[in-house]
Amino acid sequence: MRDDTSKAELPWQREPSSRQGSSSSPAETNRNRAEGIFSAQMSSKDFDRLSKFIHDSCGIRLPQAKKTMMEGRLRKRLRALGIESFGKYCEFVFSSDGMESEYIHMIDVVTTNKTDFFREPDHFDYLSGTVLPELLRSRKPGVRKKLNLWSAACSTGEEPYTIAMVLREFGQACPGFDFSILATDISTEVLEKARLGIYEHDRAIPIPMTFRKKYLLKSRQKERGLVRVTPELRNCVEFRRLNFLEKDYGLNDRMDVVFCRNALIYFDRPTQEKIVNRFTQHMVRGGYLFVGHSESLHGMELPLEQTATTVYRKL
Ligand SMILES: C[S@@+](CC[C@H](N)C(=O)[O-])C[C@H]1O[C@@H](n2cnc3c(N)ncnc32)[C@H](O)[C@@H]1O
Repeated sequence: MRDDTSKAELPWQREPSSRQGSSSSPAETNRNRAEGIFSAQMSSKDFDRLSKFIHDSCGIRLPQAKKTMMEGRLRKRLRALGIESFGKYCEFVFSSDGMESEYIHMIDVVTTNKTDFFREPDHFDYLSGTVLPELLRSRKPGVRKKLNLWSAACSTGEEPYTIAMVLREFGQACPGFDFSILATDISTEVLEKARLGIYEHDRAIPIPMTFRKKYLLKSRQKERGLVRVTPELRNCVEFRRLNFLEKDYGLNDRMDVVFCRNALIYFDRPTQEKIVNRFTQHMVRGGYLFVGHSESLHGMELPLEQTATTVYRKL
């Protein structure tokens, strides 16, 4: 049995006001190390090495203006690993052990994962009002009405679950309609959260009430204020890690609809063009691509025509 009084009975003594000698206790060493990590500064050389590497491996641009942001975010990794300086962190990341174990965590902290349910809502009206009817009309009679959708850069799952709700609603009025949703992201951390499908109650506010009633469960412990996407909706989405810069996306099916919203913005123009060209190779002719409202494909050489604001169809 645990003895709760045992801690009180430990011999206690006051901190000496000044220390004799130079040897420090393990607790003090840890404290000093933690303080060192909190105040660790990233040199321009370390920043340049890391940002170049991140750009080359996953396309994300990190100009000098992002140095403070990157320093702050990467300090979390220094703390987690007990590494005192960014110089030592660089040595570790670029070692073969670091490449294997740390690379993925570094990417997790440098990516920006902001997202919402029903973000940029006019896209979902356009999906159910125009895109889905149009795609089904173009199917030959007798051909199965299954559509493949891809939420590329899905973050914590709000986007693919929104698509799933919209598609399930659409399917109720359309017998024989079927779909599959693939949701991918480079960050393993966001994918873990997406698979769980558990969110703070306030995050569900943009979801129409009728959908909330159908597709969300409330936590029994009310004070926790959490909701969870129903198993039926979770089963509609397959989550997978995918880096847009990888040579092979490993996709078996051609996509009828691709959502890649608010991710292209982190890449330079030539990389954006390359990535979107690759998306189009994985799309059916007549398939649709949605990009974020602040993103533009204007001036790029792509086999796409614009059909609405930030919506494109493959030629
Ligand atoms: C701001 S979120 C966008 C989420 C969602 N699409 C939306 O519009 O709400 C951008 C996502 O892009 C992902 N990302 C960044 N670089 C990537 C890459 N090279 N390959 C795949 N995903 C990437 C990030 O991890 C992040 O989750």
